[in-house]
Amino acid sequence: MKRALITGITGQDGSYLAEYLLTKGYQVWGLMRRTSLDPLLRINDLTVTRRINILYGNLRDSASIQRAIEESQPNEIYNLAAQSDVGISFKVPEETMEVNYYGLGRLVNEAMKINSQVRIYQASTSEMFGKTKPPQNENSHFAPVSPYGEAKLKAHEDFVKGYRNTHGLYICSGLLFNHESPKRGEHFVTRKITISLAKIKLGLQDSFALGNLEAKRDWGYAGDYVRAMHLMLQQDSPDDYVIATGESRSVRDFVEAACRALDMKITWSGKGLDEVAKDKDGKTILTIRKEFYRPAEVDYLLGDSTKAREKLGWKPEVDFNGLVAMMAKSDLDFFRKENHTRG
Ligand code: GDD
Repeated sequence: MKRALITGITGQDGSYLAEYLLTKGYQVWGLMRRTSLDPLLRINDLTVTRRINILYGNLRDSASIQRAIEESQPNEIYNLAAQSDVGISFKVPEETMEVNYYGLGRLVNEAMKINSQVRIYQASTSEMFGKTKPPQNENSHFAPVSPYGEAKLKAHEDFVKGYRNTHGLYICSGLLFNHESPKRGEHFVTRKITISLAKIKLGLQDSFALGNLEAKRDWGYAGDYVRAMHLMLQQDSPDDYVIATGESRSVRDFVEAACRALDMKITWSGKGLDEVAKDKDGKTILTIRKEFYRPAEVDYLLGDSTKAREKLGWKPEVDFNGLVAMMAKSDLDFFRKENHTRG
């Protein structure tokens, strides 16, 4: 039976990956930062949670990483822990570098000391492409514009490519484009949109505010992307792969698709910071606020995942409209039930 250690087990990807590996017969360990909250409350699917072995520790602490690896004796390590919020990374650049760059350094060094044959997946990101023109693939130039993208790129160069070439470590970078789901953190734009619109539809909220509506992202479904992570570690030799849908939409498109999924009609008016969206009764439900713009923006991401499709046999199952509808309906159901219980 294979054994996997997942850092960042309580996040969206950690939870989908754990679930997937359990279906494949793996024994799963999850590295988790200690908080005052019960871990069972933080991973929301209890049937999965009960089968995961939780180890306390974090990427800032080599001793805790060493203990976690010794205890779990993994064949595969999935490094999903990160300061993953791009906008916040401008406010906490040192913390971002500490976790996203040095964190991987600690992990690979501890892993190599204990078992140099271990296979490691590193969560790299399309944010590393930054300003590079789309479509982006494994050969595209990296030009990050955020502390988040810079830390991830440095980790990729020093610890993924570096350790693979110099130490022969089996380590892969998944250059994952944005991937979302009903479990997505609420500060990411997709979930912020689906939660806000669901609440507005139910009369629980009047309006919400966004930043740049024109940024384009290649949005896929997280459940599809964890299959690719696993496939990367099953190959004869380690490599890096772009994982994306090949379809890019703007934040504005996402808002419109979520409105369609919730059967809400909206009309846009105004420009720039004065732009608003109104509902069918002429009530403003969406405004634009400067504070949600970033100091530097990645304008256009569109991934070319030909290599993953050909070499790994991977392809996404959920398309853009399917993803938006899944998220919008899940939030609508949740708030409807919650409102019912409270009422
Ligand atoms: N978060 C947020 N909040 N983003 C907004 C808002 C808002 O109110 N308004 C507009 N946006 C725009 C951002 O400026 C950005 O262009 C886009 O929406 C997507 O933002 P996020 O959902 O925060 O995701 P991200 O693209 O910055 O980063 C995500 O994807 C990366 C892969 O490319 C994160 O998951 C990263 O960890 C991941 O590496």
